[in-house]
Amino acid sequence: MPGTTEYNELMHEIFSSMGENSHISTPITAVRPHNVKIGKNVIVMPGCLMMSAGGITIDDGAMIAANVQIISNNHDLYERQVITCKPVNIGKNVWIGAGATILPGVTIGDNAVVGAASVVTKDVEANTIVAGNPAKLIKVIPPKLESRSQNINDEVIQLGLDSCGD
Ligand SMILES: CC(C)(COP(=O)(O)OP(=O)(O)OC[C@H]1O[C@@H](n2cnc3c(N)ncnc32)[C@H](O)[C@@H]1OP(=O)(O)O)[C@@H](O)C(=O)NCCC(=O)NCCS
Repeated sequence: MPGTTEYNELMHEIFSSMGENSHISTPITAVRPHNVKIGKNVIVMPGCLMMSAGGITIDDGAMIAANVQIISNNHDLYERQVITCKPVNIGKNVWIGAGATILPGVTIGDNAVVGAASVVTKDVEANTIVAGNPAKLIKVIPPKLESRSQNINDEVIQLGLDSCGD
């Protein structure tokens, strides 16, 4: 059962390099999970697909929303039984929106955001927001100001460490 010691131990067995306070929800599909490196304080919501032949790294504090696909291999165009592998790197504190797909060879810079349902085909700069298919830059995230206030139209809920909006 999620939240039990047995569940957490099993997740650390499957993802042997996973850091402390990281939480992976089920259902999860991870092909070659030994090729997935997960830092600390990472959240992976339900329905994630990790195709990790090329290697997947998810750095500290990253948040992966529901039904995200992280794919690190293609099939050779002539010999389809041959897969061609390129690593996917997801930086610190990256937030990937629900249903996004990250394609082989992509590096997402620290603090970047990927919009829901985006298909990320190219590297994403740190501190930027990309969205769409193919994903394009929509915003640069400015440095946080001490006096920053929330948008008054948004309801704000403080989440626990193991949650990404559920
Ligand atoms: C990426 C995101 C954070 C951007 O939010 P925002 O900064 O408020 O962006 P805006 O709503 O101002 O949109 C800016 C532009 O990008 C477009 N855009 C925003 N999100 C998009 C998306 N996911 N796909 C395609 N285009 C998108 C908007 O249509 C708008 O285009 P326009 O300038 O032509 O009108 C948000 O749209 C999003 O996708 N959030 C993910 C939510 C989610 O998955 N939550 C799960 C819980 S963890």
